[in-house]
Amino acid sequence: MSLLTVNGIKKSFGGLKALNDVNLNVEEGTVHAVIGPNGAGKSTLLHTFVGKLKPDEGAILFNGDAVLGKDPTQINQLGISRVFQTPEIFAELSMLENVMIPALAKEDGTFTINPLGAAMNRRSIRERAEHALEDVGLADKMHGTAANQSRGDKRRLELAMCLVQNPRLLLLDEPTAGMSRTDTNNTIELLQKIHSRGMTKVIIEHDMHVVFSLSTRISVMAQGAVIEEGTPEQIKASARVQEAYLAGNTGEE
Ligand SMILES: Nc1ncnc2c1ncn2[C@@H]1O[C@H](COP(=O)(O)OP(=O)(O)O)[C@@H](O)[C@H]1O
Ligand SMILES: [Mg+2]
Repeated sequence: MSLLTVNGIKKSFGGLKALNDVNLNVEEGTVHAVIGPNGAGKSTLLHTFVGKLKPDEGAILFNGDAVLGKDPTQINQLGISRVFQTPEIFAELSMLENVMIPALAKEDGTFTINPLGAAMNRRSIRERAEHALEDVGLADKMHGTAANQSRGDKRRLELAMCLVQNPRLLLLDEPTAGMSRTDTNNTIELLQKIHSRGMTKVIIEHDMHVVFSLSTRISVMAQGAVIEEGTPEQIKASARVQEAYLAGNTGEE
């Protein structure tokens, strides 16, 4: 079943056609990678899925519901969570508090940091947040201030902020960007563990080692359009993709 259906999405910034008729089907239970050179429109596309950017044309359906016209909070409530390219965390709050905020947002439909004091005493929320932090290997740092953590731990925190919502669709924009090889491999392992629970994922990724380790389906974007789609084997073998993107970049070391 197609969980996310993207039809004819267009988005221009001034004279620049960032998205020029993008079509995409994400099947339930898959890890669908979107790859392509810098500036291809990958992040812009992801932003349209979560209501952060409004496309000029096209339609997006999630589990049969129209996404366009809904605001980010409503879309989140439908069951889509995302990790963006630039970490969006609450720097002054503790790791635990950071994870409780999206847990509350999912439960109450409000995105606010005000009820935190009360929520600290709401056992279900707190326990779910602790569990999500354990999941990503941050249990021992849950009372630390977010701002003081390493870049890798901030990215893991963001992932915990998504997992605590138990989304039906998880969107990841370059989750291993800027990570060491060790951190990257830990993230791959973590994402594989999450996958075994059946959560559908769309992952934008530059690192072909990550892409070929994780994905079951790959779409290749160039200049605002999907130029090829297939299994990892098909994509590796595609002359067109080789030419446009993959040459010397297969992630094999
Ligand atoms: N808010 C914006 N305003 C103007 N141009 C933008 C904006 N966001 C993205 N772009 C441009 O759209 C194109 C696609 O960007 P992006 O989606 O970030 O690419 P990718 O994630 O594939 O590297 C780029 O040329 C980029 O400079
Ligand atoms: Mg990007």
